[in-house]
Amino acid sequence: MQTDSSFTFVLFGGTGDLSMRKILPALFEAHRAGGMLADSGKIVAVARHVADRGEYLQWVDAHVKPYVSKNGLDEVAWTSFLARIEFVKIDLGNPDDFAQLRDAIQDLPGIRVFYLATGPSLFVPICHALAAVGLNHNARIVLEKPLGYDLKSSNAINDAVGEIFAEEQIYRIDHYLGKEPVQNLLALRFGNALFEPLWRREWVESIQITIAEELGVEARGDFYDNTGALRDMVQNHLLQLLSIVAMEPPHSMDSDSVRDEKLRVLRALKPIDPREIGKVAVRGQYHSGVIRGNAVPAYATEHGVKPDSSTETFVALKVEIENWRWAGVPFFLRTGKRLADRVAEIVVNFRPVPHSALGASALRAGANRLVLRLQPNETIRLYCLAKQPGEGMNLASVHLNLAFDQFFREAQMEAYQRLLLDVINGRLALFVRRDEQEAAWRWVEPILNEWKASTKPPKPYAAGTWGPAAASAMLAQHDTCWLEEEN
Ligand code: BG6
Repeated sequence: MQTDSSFTFVLFGGTGDLSMRKILPALFEAHRAGGMLADSGKIVAVARHVADRGEYLQWVDAHVKPYVSKNGLDEVAWTSFLARIEFVKIDLGNPDDFAQLRDAIQDLPGIRVFYLATGPSLFVPICHALAAVGLNHNARIVLEKPLGYDLKSSNAINDAVGEIFAEEQIYRIDHYLGKEPVQNLLALRFGNALFEPLWRREWVESIQITIAEELGVEARGDFYDNTGALRDMVQNHLLQLLSIVAMEPPHSMDSDSVRDEKLRVLRALKPIDPREIGKVAVRGQYHSGVIRGNAVPAYATEHGVKPDSSTETFVALKVEIENWRWAGVPFFLRTGKRLADRVAEIVVNFRPVPHSALGASALRAGANRLVLRLQPNETIRLYCLAKQPGEGMNLASVHLNLAFDQFFREAQMEAYQRLLLDVINGRLALFVRRDEQEAAWRWVEPILNEWKASTKPPKPYAAGTWGPAAASAMLAQHDTCWLEEEN
């Protein structure tokens, strides 16, 4: 993708965790690849606790390099990357400081991208301060998730930002939408006629979507304890995946066609009845345990976490979609920290044959299933039944396997790299529109409220397991189980 569109990429939160691990490495990769970023494009980092550009570059060298040198660092590219970086010292709490930012960037060519890698409480003050010095024109603004804390606070931020920037200038980031396998899900569903007739209630029995992590809260205990898994992962990543799995075929891949269809799914989610929450939602919190041979501490003892915290680190949900395609089909969503494995996958369980002329083995579980493994090791597996060699007609589950790294030799593009290039080039399709975000908050809100009011603590699970037993019991009520429980 060659580009000559110049840009000034202003990074608020320039010394934050996200800048260090994701944003600057992604910009470096785009720079190193050549041709993706205009030569004249500049990165202007903004931070408070750094004296000047020299000190900032030392910080980048010490902290960002480890994240870009996994496959050996290209030193020449690294040096030329550092030359793109400028620095402005700003106290975000002091709007007067923004005049320095204006002076630093006003003569730079091209579109201005303001990336707010800060807490959501700073979004509105930063936008006001940018507008006050006239920097809200010829500009795009990128807002990190979670945007707000609930529907009300998210609306308040969107209203305030919306007074300064038009909707088409606002890029709400959900990095799952930038992942190659998620793009592939669109390709699989809408590039092949094969699956479409089966992709509906008549043929699908249930769908599972799991995003499991081995990592705990790392250095983000403070943030996480005020957020929890429902806001951190479900309101955004899991509901976005769900909407892509369940959406109707869009008319085109332009930004609004895809987002309109996702929105229809989010609006069709069966509202959660607060009296039913115990049946359709499980919240858990990890205790100490062992992951890959290493002892890990309980959540409540992590740095920044309140010892009596009732924040959930695990969520499992049964979700239903009220439309003709999906009525009655349970979608089981699950995410958690400190689980047994790091895996993100979508499991589509098709119905068994209605009558088995081939004996009971034709009804066995483990067949009639499509598994889309998003990470790690992106694969698509179609499980079918086949005859076992030998006498008699005994069937066994076999699978057709598409491993993407064997098929395509090109390295995958990191989600952040794709999304940052999309912002610079003005492509909105992979960003969350305000109405989608509102619909997602509206749907999770009864669960948030109920858990907040509840005197019952989250269900404990040992780190290194698959979460509380209640998550398995919820599926058992539907005569099914999580994929790993079958193996
Ligand atoms: C982020 C969450 O949005 O996604 C983190 O805030 C989580 O808590 C991360 O660890 C997971 O992303 P990935 O790409 O590693 O699956």
